Amino acid sequence: MVSLKKRFPFPFEEDRHRYSNNLKPLEPPCCIQITAEYFDEVSEKRRLLEAHPERCFHALPGTLEAQWEAVDTVVHQLVQNYPDCFWLDKREDRWTFQNRLLDETHQFTFGDANTLPVQPLDWIGRQVQEDLLIMVQRDDDIFLEAGQLCFPSVWSLTFDLGMSFQEIHHPVPWSNELSEKIRRFLLRVEAGQPWTRLNWAMQAGRRLHIPPETFDEWGPERYRVTQENVADTVHLRVEEQCVLRLPGSNALLFSIHTYLKSVGELSQRPDWAHKVHSVLTTLPEAIIAYKGLSAYRKQVIDYLERCL
Ligand code: HEM
Repeated sequence: MVSLKKRFPFPFEEDRHRYSNNLKPLEPPCCIQITAEYFDEVSEKRRLLEAHPERCFHALPGTLEAQWEAVDTVVHQLVQNYPDCFWLDKREDRWTFQNRLLDETHQFTFGDANTLPVQPLDWIGRQVQEDLLIMVQRDDDIFLEAGQLCFPSVWSLTFDLGMSFQEIHHPVPWSNELSEKIRRFLLRVEAGQPWTRLNWAMQAGRRLHIPPETFDEWGPERYRVTQENVADTVHLRVEEQCVLRLPGSNALLFSIHTYLKSVGELSQRPDWAHKVHSVLTTLPEAIIAYKGLSAYRKQVIDYLERCL
């Protein structure tokens, strides 16, 4: 029996939060993390994909080559980095892939979408905890043209499909200079030199799937946070994101692995509790509003103050 590790990438290096190009080289160059939550999260992804395919997977025509490159990349990262869990045999284009964690064997002809039950990006996304998005590069810009998104942090793949980097990020309260700097950086990402960054949010409740489409189900929880329930209800949500160039199609693969830690759990680590407290107390008003923190920020700050 393989034992899978728990993991939580803490997002704050400094006591204040400001938007920046916080991409760093990805070392080792693997955008997939298999963690202790693998079984629960992959099963939840597959359930969501069956129940709400219109929300969780989209691919525009013309993205098949990039989708196959995503399969190639992720399958090889899995077998190289988790050899106890995944296995691959290639006889020319005929691939046999074993997912030993789930006791599944998949056979398909690489490059022939008819030999898979779903589109290639959808298939590989069902083997991993990450959400996987493909940004196509053309006309000196990048566009979101395919994605499997089961664990969105308040955004809609259906709504954003086809949008450019700038259009997707229009709601973010950062400067035009910074978003343009990051966009230009992404245009120049080279094959074999992947990048990674952490993004953070807070949420009331422990759901991974919080799309705007179901705000009525999860949104009201933020107005029910009290001093009594804040430790278990409010969570720091961290997205470990990676971006890598797919050299054949020249598209970018963008992966998102989402982690949750309750405020109560965070308070067990005084260094973490101190940083979260400090970031929350110094956060600019525009970011508080954008991140939807107004309803319960005070409860979190007060709770952490009592713990420190
Ligand atoms: C290239 C693929 C990327 C995609 C598909 C993507 C997608 C998104 C989406 C959908 C949002 C939410 C926007 C909304 O409120 O509707 C977002 C927010 C954001 N993105 Fe990206 N993003 C990408 C790359 C990046 C990169 C490379 C950076 C920084 C270096 C970045 C920085 C941010 C920041 C700072 C936010 C605001 C998050 C917050 O404050 O909670 N994104 N992104």
